[in-house]
Formats: sequence, structure tokens, C-alpha cells
Amino acid sequence: MIALTVAEDAEAAARTCAERVAAAIAAARRERGAAHVALAGGRTPARTYELLAGLVDDWSDVHLWFGDERCVPLDDPGSNHHLLARTLLARLPDGVSPPVVHAVEGAGGGDPPAAAAAYERALRAGIPGEPIPRLDFNLLGLGEDGHTASLFPDDPALAERERLCVAVHGSKPPFERVTLTLPVLLAARAIVVLTAGTGKAWAVGAMLAGPSARVPASLLADGAVELIADRASAPT
Ligand code: 6PG
Repeated sequence: MIALTVAEDAEAAARTCAERVAAAIAAARRERGAAHVALAGGRTPARTYELLAGLVDDWSDVHLWFGDERCVPLDDPGSNHHLLARTLLARLPDGVSPPVVHAVEGAGGGDPPAAAAAYERALRAGIPGEPIPRLDFNLLGLGEDGHTASLFPDDPALAERERLCVAVHGSKPPFERVTLTLPVLLAARAIVVLTAGTGKAWAVGAMLAGPSARVPASLLADGAVELIADRASAPT
């Protein structure tokens, strides 16, 4: 089931999303002594990450993972790791110990399958949960074609039920990517998909219209999902 939250505009959507992440981090630290959060890439979550820097006052035992990563060097502006560095990490107040950031090491090393396998090993070693590591919070984006993370329409990766992380050739540049797969995405205690802008209106409608491999984000309905959309992208 996908719960829809409509925010007035992109800024309000970003703030609502940042508040969700901060609340999930606080609850996980309180209840389990640590928080494991997977983050989205792309442009939309940048403002959420900027706001999030001021909403969490203790990042110790907070582990940040990536729902997907582009196969470029981690210091490339196109990498999702670089997005996090220039938004959240660059705004942490002085003296605050930073979160543990689990980069997709080797993403830009020219061997995406090896980088994906290594990230799966890190997920399994670093996040509690058997047989599937259980994220506390999973923030995902929504592509105009209905993709999420780097799970693109009708991609064979959508049928993956064993591996937690795979290499894909996506339809959004940079094309070579590493992505978490549905088993680990759906196992999260909470999933939020954040989107904004009229360009995403079709994808929002398609995501809410029922599960279809043509619209990978619609397959998240099997999890505990909230879709946060601004008015421009929300159904009228
Ligand atoms: C990525 C993202 C991807 C993104 C959507 C939306 O690495 O590109 O993880 O899934 O969330 O493509 O991207 P925008 O927010 O830039 O529209």
C-alpha cells in the first residue's frame, strides 16, 4: 500500500521528507542503538539532505547507505556520494561527529558487478537482519519513467530475489550503475519516495495505479511506503 502525502511545493516536500528521516533515525537509535538509512540520488533529495543536517543533533551510530550509485569516481559531481558530501556532510555543525557513510567503493573502478558484489557483502555484514538486512529507513526517488533507485522499466534486475545489489545498464546517464534490489528495498522498516515537479506527474499516477514492471516504483507497494509529492507532481 502506498500512502500519498501532498506538500504545497518542493521546499515543503523536502522539509517533510527531512523530518521523516530525522524521526526514523531518532527512533532507530533509541530502540536499536543504531540507525541504518539508505539514501536516494539524483537532484530531488538535495534540499532534503541540506535540511537534514540541522535536524539531527547526534549522528553517532547513524549509518548512511546508498540505494544506488552511478559507476563514476566517488568524487565525480555525478556520483550520489558526492551529492551527499556537498549537501548533508558539508552542513554538519562544527564539532558534530559525522555519520558513518558506506560508499559504494569501486563504483568508478570499471567493474560494476564486482562493486555490486562488494556492496552486498558490506550490507550483509553491516546491517542487522536475516536472511535480508533490514534498513530502518529507505529514501528513494522517482524517475519520469517510473524508475526508482536504478531499477528501470522492465529491467531483469526487477526479478532478482537472491542478490541484494546488482550492476545495471540504466536508461538515465550515467548509464552504468549499481542498485539495491527489491528484496532489500522492501525489507526496510519504512520507505519514502520523494518527488516534485510537473515532469513527475505521469510517474506519480503510474506508481499509484497498481504494480507493474513497466513502473518499477509501483512495485514498492509491497512495502511500507509513503510517497511525498509536491502539488505539481501529485494527482489532481
Ligand atoms: C539516481 C537516483 C534515481 C533518481 C531518479 C529521480 O541515482 O539517479 O537514485 O533513482 O532518484 O532518477 O532523479 P531526480 O531527482 O534527479 O529527478
